Amino acid sequence: MTDFTPYHEEQELDNNTSDNVHFRDILEQAITRRSLITKTASGAVALTLASTLTACGSDSDSGTTPPPADPKKLPTKLSFTPVAKNLNDIVTVPEGYEAKVLYALGDSINQSYGAWDDNDIPSGPSFQFRSGDCHDGMSYFGLNTTTGRYDDTKSDHGLLVLNHEYINQTFLHPKGPTKDTSGRRPEDEVIREVNAHGVSIVHVKKDSKTQAVEILKNSIFNRRITASTEMAFAGLAANSSLLSTRFSPSSSKTRGTQNNCGNGYTPWGTYLTAEENFIGYFFRSGADQYERTANENVALGRYGLGLEISYQDTAKTIENKDAQGRTLYKDKTSRYQWETALAGVEDQDMYDRWNASVVGTSATADYRNIPNNFGWIVEIDPFDSRQAPVKRTSLGRFAHEDCRTSRAIEGQNLAFYMGDDSRGEYIYKFVSDTKWDAKDINGGYAAGDKYMNSGKLYVAKFNADGTGQWIELSTSNPAISGYTTYAFADQADVLTHARIAADAVSATKMDRPEWVAVNPNNGEVYVTLTNNSNRGTSYTTDAANPRNYTDPVGSNGKGNVNGHIIRFREDADTTTATTFKWDIYLFGAEAQMLENVNLSGLTDNNDFSSPDGMWFDPRGVLWIQTDDGAYTDVTNCMMLAALPGTMGDGGKATALSGTATQDTFMGAKVTDENLRRFLVGPKDCEITGVTMTPDYKAIFINVQHPGEDSTAYNNATSHWPATQTDPTNTTARPRSATVVITRKDGGVIAG
Ligand code: FEO
Ligand code: CA
Ligand code: CA
Repeated sequence: MTDFTPYHEEQELDNNTSDNVHFRDILEQAITRRSLITKTASGAVALTLASTLTACGSDSDSGTTPPPADPKKLPTKLSFTPVAKNLNDIVTVPEGYEAKVLYALGDSINQSYGAWDDNDIPSGPSFQFRSGDCHDGMSYFGLNTTTGRYDDTKSDHGLLVLNHEYINQTFLHPKGPTKDTSGRRPEDEVIREVNAHGVSIVHVKKDSKTQAVEILKNSIFNRRITASTEMAFAGLAANSSLLSTRFSPSSSKTRGTQNNCGNGYTPWGTYLTAEENFIGYFFRSGADQYERTANENVALGRYGLGLEISYQDTAKTIENKDAQGRTLYKDKTSRYQWETALAGVEDQDMYDRWNASVVGTSATADYRNIPNNFGWIVEIDPFDSRQAPVKRTSLGRFAHEDCRTSRAIEGQNLAFYMGDDSRGEYIYKFVSDTKWDAKDINGGYAAGDKYMNSGKLYVAKFNADGTGQWIELSTSNPAISGYTTYAFADQADVLTHARIAADAVSATKMDRPEWVAVNPNNGEVYVTLTNNSNRGTSYTTDAANPRNYTDPVGSNGKGNVNGHIIRFREDADTTTATTFKWDIYLFGAEAQMLENVNLSGLTDNNDFSSPDGMWFDPRGVLWIQTDDGAYTDVTNCMMLAALPGTMGDGGKATALSGTATQDTFMGAKVTDENLRRFLVGPKDCEITGVTMTPDYKAIFINVQHPGEDSTAYNNATSHWPATQTDPTNTTARPRSATVVITRKDGGVIAG
C-alpha cells in the first residue's frame, strides 16, 4: 500500500497469533459460485417468487397504512415495501418514506462558520465547528428544553451524538492529501484531519406535525470532540504507569479520541464511543525494537504495532543488520503521518504525541506509552460541556467496535457487552459491581464513576454444545498470572492488555465481532460477526463460526464471506451469569447460494452480506446494517429491519465448511414478514449508525465513505449527497453524512 492508499478496515492485520485454537490447514478447493454455491434452477425459482410477492405487494401497503393505535407496540409483522437491491448513487427507502440529508462532512454547527464549499475547502482549525468525516455510531438523546437535561420522552428536541470514525483524505483536502519535499504533512491538513475525527453533538428539532428535522445551528449544545480534545482516565487502569506520557506523567489524562466506530448509551443518559482501529495512527521506529523489553514487544505486537524484520532479498532469507550487527527492523509508518507535521499554529507536542517510539530518557519524557492511551470505551455526557470526556479503563483495551448496556433493571447489576473487531478476536462483557438505581438518570459522569469504574471484565467462550462461558480476566486466574507468553504486572496490566489475558484463558476466536444489540423484551444479546476471509485457514471453523466457502466475486471471496449474527441468553436471565446459551440468529448470504450456506433461507427481499451496525429500537425492532465488499457487485450496502424470535427457536444445523461440513445451532429460518430490506445506500458506501426519536417517527442513519474507491478528488465514483436531490449531479464531492428518514404520512417507522 502506498502512503495515501485510501484506508479500508479489511487492511487491518490479524494480530491474534495465540494458539488457543489449533491451527489446521484446510485445503481449499476451487469452488465457484456457479458450480457449488448456486442452487441454479431452484434458486432462480426462488428469486422469481420473491419478486412476484414484492410486485403484488402481498402484505405491503406502500407505506400508507395509518399508524397503529399504540406506536410503542412491537409490530407483529413488517409491512413496508421491501427496497430492491440496487447500485444507484442515492439512498433508497420504501415507498411512502422519504430520506433527507441532515449533516454532512464539513457542515457548520456554529453560526460564525460558513457552509462547506467543494471548491473552497474550509481551514483545518474551522473543523472544530464542523462535521467530521466518516460518520458512524450514533444515538439520539431527548432534550428537555426547560431543564437542559436528558429526557427519553422528548422527540421535538434532542441531541444527536455521532462518531466520525476516520477520514477519506481524497475528498477532505482541496486536492487530496499532500506532503512537502521533506516528506512532512502540511500542518493545516493535519489539523483538519485531527479535527475531522472524534464525535459530534448536534441539537436537532423535529416538527411534530410535518416530522421535518433540522439542526439548530445556534444551540449551545452543539460541539465537537476531536482527536485533540482533553479527556480523563477513570477506572482500574487510570494512573497506571503503563499509561503515563510526557503530557500526563501521572496517567490521569490524555488528548483525543480516534477511530470511533460503534457506540452505546447508558441508562443515565450519556454516550459511549468505541475506539476501534486506533493502533494505525502511531509511528514506531525500527530501532525501537531494542529500546523495549521482550514483554513490551509482545504487547505491542499483539495490538498491531509489532515491527517487521528488514531483509535484503524478497525471499526473506538474508536479514539486514544495524551498525551493531543486530537484526534490523523496519520503521512502522502511521496511517496519516501526523507525527511528521511541524508546529506553526499548534505546539510541536501535538504532533510528537503520535510517535510511539522511545525517544526520551523515560516514559514521562516521551510518548512510548501513547498507544495505551487509546483503545478504550469513552463516556461523553452530551448535556455537560464543562467536564472532559472520560476513558473508562475498567472495560478493557482492545479494538473496541461497540458497547451496549444490558437492560436497566432496578436492583440488578449492569452489563456492558463489547466486540473486538479484528479477525479471530473476542467478545467481552463488563459487569458493574453496583446495582442499577433509576435515581441515577441524569447523573452524568458521577453515575459513570458509579457503574463503570468498579466491576469484572469477562471474555466469552462458545462451546460446541450450544452453551457458553464468561471467563473473568483477573490476575487471580492462574491461567493469566502464570501465562508464559506475557507477564502481567497487575490488574491494570490485564485491562490494558485484555487481548493477551483473553488469549491466556482460551477464549473463542470469532469472525470479527462488530456491533452488539440487546433485545429490550428478553435481554438476549446479539453480536454481528461481519466476515472472516481467514476462517477455514488461519482459524478453523467451529460451531459458533461454522462457515467456510468461496465466493469468486469481490475481495472477501473466501472463508466466512457474508458473515453472521450470533445471539446468546444469560443463564437465569441475570447479567452476572457466568454461563449462557447461544445460537446463530442469522446467516448473511446471497439468496441463490446453497442451502448449507444460505442457512437462514434469505430471499431477494432480504439477502445481505457483512452485517456490521445493529440496534434494537425500544419496541424490539432489530435494525441491521452492512459494511460489505462481497455482494457489492450486485448491490450497495443496506439496512434491514427484523423481528427476531428468541434464542433456541431453531435447532441443529449443518454448515458448509470447505469440502466438509460443520455442525452448529441456528435460530428459525427467517420469513419475508420478519426480515426485510428497508434501505439501500449510494455507491461505495457503508451504512452504519442508527437511532430514532422516542415517538418512532424519525429514524437517523449514517452513510459512511460514499465513493471510497475513487482514485482522485476530481475522479469520484459517487456524487452523493448531492445526488439525493439532484440525481444528475456528476461533479460534487462525495461526503459522509447523517440521513433522517420519515414517513410522508407522519406515521411510525416500520409501524
Ligand atoms: Fe469500524 Fe469494525 O467497523
Ligand atoms: Ca463498524
Ligand atoms: Ca466494518
